[in-house]
Amino acid sequence: MTFRQFAIGLTASFGLAWLAMVVVPFFKLRNPSPVSFEEGIDAQEGIYHPKRAGRVVNGANVYAANGCYQCHTQVVRPTYAGNDLGRPDFGGLKADPERGDTRRESNVFDYIGLDFAQIGVTRLGPDLMNVGLRMEANYGADAKGYLYKHLYNPRLIPALTDWSSCPSFSFLFETRKITGQKSEAALDVPTEDGYEVVPGDQARALVDYLMSLKHDDPVPASMNYAPATSNQEG
Ligand code: HEC
Repeated sequence: MTFRQFAIGLTASFGLAWLAMVVVPFFKLRNPSPVSFEEGIDAQEGIYHPKRAGRVVNGANVYAANGCYQCHTQVVRPTYAGNDLGRPDFGGLKADPERGDTRRESNVFDYIGLDFAQIGVTRLGPDLMNVGLRMEANYGADAKGYLYKHLYNPRLIPALTDWSSCPSFSFLFETRKITGQKSEAALDVPTEDGYEVVPGDQARALVDYLMSLKHDDPVPASMNYAPATSNQEG
């Protein structure tokens, strides 16, 4: 093999992969055209507008900085790539009190406007695409309290996650001496007498961000490989 052949071969092997994995998806996904609901197939009409939770950028940055994406994905896989909708609450709620089955797959519109799409590296922990919904459904008004406690130390939640391998992020909290009355924001965790644990700014931002993760608005059937209606049994 001549050096020339080697160089061409090397460029082709990396170049083709780069074209297929980076360049083509970039141009295909950077500006997706609007998708319409179809009469007769979908329950509503018009063009699909993704629901937005407002900007929770600071929390997303705390999420990124602490490597949550190493163990948590934020993508409900399309059914052709391995169904996720059978897993409890990954893609929406199976029995939403108001809307019934709201489960759906993730789509490209779910990530529009984000600085980074936190699709994640591995799924050691549960998918967080709908963690806000899940927490509200399971813990109601105490959803944030539950998340704070989980982040402070997941093993403090008896029976449910006292085996957890989610790391403790207690450095996002402040342990301080109680002066006067105990703070309303104080966590329900064991401390030394006279001390309390309160969430710091980063913990607050992170929990607001997690609570904003809700992706269950109805999408056109043409975009959803597993529309809820065909998935009622799953
Ligand atoms: C080393 C891997 C790992 C890292 C890093 C990690 N987690 Fe976890 N996480 C897990 C595992 C495993 C579970 C499941 C056990 C549990 O619920 O405690 C979990 C559970 C959770 C849950 C409960 C989800 C549910 O549906 O009940 C939340 C919320 C969560 N993690 C948030 C985070 C956040 C936020 C970060 C970053 C600050 C993070 N995790 C970093 C492994 C990890």
